Amino acid sequence: MAILLPGGAGYIGSHTAVELLKAGKEIVIVDDFSNSSPKVLDAIRKITGKDFKFYELDYKNKEKLEKIFEENEIDSVINFAGFKAVGESVKKPLEYYENNVSGALVLLDTMRKYGCKKFIFSSSATVYGTPEVIPITEESKTGGTTNPYGTTKLFIEKILEDLYASDNTWDICILRYFNPVGAHESGLIGEEPQGIPNNLMPYIVRVANGTFKELSVFGNDYDTPDGTGVRDYIHVVDLSKGHVKALEKLDKEGNGLYIYNLGTGIGYSVLDMVNAFKKSTGKEVAYKITERRPGDIATCYADPTKAKVELGWVAEKNLEDMCKDSWNYIEMSQKK
Ligand code: UD1
Repeated sequence: MAILLPGGAGYIGSHTAVELLKAGKEIVIVDDFSNSSPKVLDAIRKITGKDFKFYELDYKNKEKLEKIFEENEIDSVINFAGFKAVGESVKKPLEYYENNVSGALVLLDTMRKYGCKKFIFSSSATVYGTPEVIPITEESKTGGTTNPYGTTKLFIEKILEDLYASDNTWDICILRYFNPVGAHESGLIGEEPQGIPNNLMPYIVRVANGTFKELSVFGNDYDTPDGTGVRDYIHVVDLSKGHVKALEKLDKEGNGLYIYNLGTGIGYSVLDMVNAFKKSTGKEVAYKITERRPGDIATCYADPTKAKVELGWVAEKNLEDMCKDSWNYIEMSQKK
């Protein structure tokens, strides 16, 4: 019995592949390297000392996807093959709806055809739009997404709810990620944004290593302790372990649609991140205060109680680990 990981060579997919292999699970990775590289597969093998099957494939290719279900005993699927760049999604909405939503439909339809009904979906805190109450629980209102990327996440959640309502023999788990950062402690896998990074941590490390002159802090007039935006940063290894716990829950209980926030429950501001980075790595991060970024909200952090109670999962790594591991990955990549 194997777990299929479309997008398993990507940032969160590769870290989850490592945790699944470490937990003794069999995995099959599907990836077209549109936002990843074949080197990642060797890195996963090196870290775990374990092997797995790999198919180079666009997960929307139904014919080839079906072949994978025929050749392997796929018991469950964790979908990491979504496009995730917010700014790009505004410029290329059709590509985002096609890859994320049509891709999910192809995947779910293929799963149904082969009687595989265990599905874990990578969603995002972005589905909460502008939250009315902080910390955010899973019962908080969803909707009001501010970009096509976020809307694809919301649409796929709705599709999964409708699917489950039509056939309650599915086992579905929606994981709403807060802000994933960090890298595997080995420095062998990490985040590789293409072009100029949009997200905070990838930008901070590139200021620290001299790629960029300074960080633009998008606004210091928010209603937060220091005026800069507050987020729930979560180490990617903790996040990945959440998937293993979610799978165990579906294996044990089955037949249900479950939704969990994966966050630490702690909010840090942009300036907290800059200061923590210096403290953890000794590296200075020059910054200037600029205009607010359109679509940004003041504060977003999780109430992660439900995942703790129902999955037995809590984030264990702290901000220092997140900064050190992000920096270590960049340093290791430079040496290569
Ligand atoms: C964004 C997406 C979220 C996605 C996440 C991936 C939205 C509204 N947000 O979250 O869906 O899941 O990325 O990690 O769709 N900042 C700066 N300077 C920078 C970059 C960021 O000041 O150069 C600030 C931002 O204003 C924000 C914080 O840092 O306050 C975090 O930004 P970012 O890393 O881009 O994540 P989010 O916008 O929270």
